[in-house]
Amino acid sequence: MRFDTVVKSGNVVTPAGTFVGDIGITGETITALGLDLDTDGAKVVDAMGHHVIPGVLDVHVHLELPFCGTVSADDYRSGTRAGARGGVTTVIDFAIPPAGGSLADAADLWMKKADGKALIDYTFHICITKYQEQKDQINGMVERGFTTFKEFMIYESEGWQSDDRALYGTLEKMRECGAMLLVHAESARILDELIARHHTPELMKQYGARLHPMTRPNFVEAEAIQRVVQWSEATGGQLYIVHMSTGEGADTVRAAQARGVPVIAETCVQYLVLDDSVFEREDGHLFACCPQVKTPKDVERLWEGVRRGEVSVISTDTCTFTREQKAMWNGDWTKIPMGLPGLETLLPLTYTAGVLDGRISLEDMCVKLSTNPAKIMGLYPRKGAIQVGADADLAIIHPFHRLTVSPSAMETNADWSPYEGWDLAGFARTTLSRGEVIVDDYKVVGREGRGRWLPRTSAGLAGSPSEPKAMRISRGPLSPLRARDIERAVRA
Ligand code: URP
Ligand code: ZN
Ligand code: ZN
Repeated sequence: MRFDTVVKSGNVVTPAGTFVGDIGITGETITALGLDLDTDGAKVVDAMGHHVIPGVLDVHVHLELPFCGTVSADDYRSGTRAGARGGVTTVIDFAIPPAGGSLADAADLWMKKADGKALIDYTFHICITKYQEQKDQINGMVERGFTTFKEFMIYESEGWQSDDRALYGTLEKMRECGAMLLVHAESARILDELIARHHTPELMKQYGARLHPMTRPNFVEAEAIQRVVQWSEATGGQLYIVHMSTGEGADTVRAAQARGVPVIAETCVQYLVLDDSVFEREDGHLFACCPQVKTPKDVERLWEGVRRGEVSVISTDTCTFTREQKAMWNGDWTKIPMGLPGLETLLPLTYTAGVLDGRISLEDMCVKLSTNPAKIMGLYPRKGAIQVGADADLAIIHPFHRLTVSPSAMETNADWSPYEGWDLAGFARTTLSRGEVIVDDYKVVGREGRGRWLPRTSAGLAGSPSEPKAMRISRGPLSPLRARDIERAVRA
């Protein structure tokens, strides 16, 4: 069999197991996996001594988002270039209706942001910000290829907040139309109260940006997760908790899953590698995001959730603000633009802290970064795994070669990084998107605007009738594979 491209002699991670061998690509699609594939007339990508893993799906990003009085600094050009350099081949953003606008307006607006700029494939979760006016538009959006919706339990001042009536009603609708509701779960009124109590000149002088984590104790997230899980249980509507940051949240999700509630949880890599000690730093305000990074105990509990299965997905919640934008706080923590850059470092951080530090195996990492996100978001088997028939979306990473995180050498528009100076393995030496090399020798070589919108017909755990098994996400216990085992496997 002839191929357009052969990825040669890599340590290839597939759903059927990991093997050292080749991947044959015809056009945009994987057409063969095997040993010594025919390279006659084919472009050969040498992967010897490298891991070849499925392209990463970052299913939680905010590119060019108007938020906190400014606009997030990575757009579809810089954001998707940053992603590609970190082995990301698909992003899912959140399309938010303009004031007084419909769900269709939100999709149209975000389509325009991506069009002509995206280097990799993309789609959007559709945000419901005015449930009463927008509820009858949900079916039409599903028919248009958008199967995931989002509601925020906070952000009243942005005009995005949903109340319990909206959450309950939307979950009922999700059940009816086989779609999934993503929820930002934090307890709005308690958060408002804690912020108001601390918003005094004396306390701001005394504590500075430390007031950000101080006014966001764990119960703010924990109570909200409990409440929305209850509505999922009552309605049977598919629920997905975004950016879960607390151990208590993980406990609630685990218990709910055990009694059959259709709830899935995502954490973000910052909650696995950072803790609230960052606020002791002089530049601690840079780290303000929402929800806030929590304690070392939460970090360990979330890793446990990744291993045991209650955490199904690791994403980034990329919402980049430059130093200048972060400086808008001017001593008042309530004015810090909340969010962190992340697309470029998702895979390197998960690989280094997860795989090389022995917390999860290489295969488990691929499940959390690629296969589960693709299945849950209705993009499997086209995306999310190295198998015949799938899009040839691949990341080729060296097992041990580390690069020092340095914003000036990165694709993101951020002029700082939460991980500046960290030595991380797992940056993509080569990234392929639908068979095309878009990162070569750690540098972006792909053309902006080549990324495509991905229509979907399903989401969540229910699955499509044609592929019930494919939709089952992996939740089983994971087997840690240590660095020396990987070294042995790659050298064998
Ligand atoms: O700090 C964050 N996460 N900013 C983006 C908005 C959100 O809540 O995801
Ligand atoms: Zn959020
Ligand atoms: Zn977000």
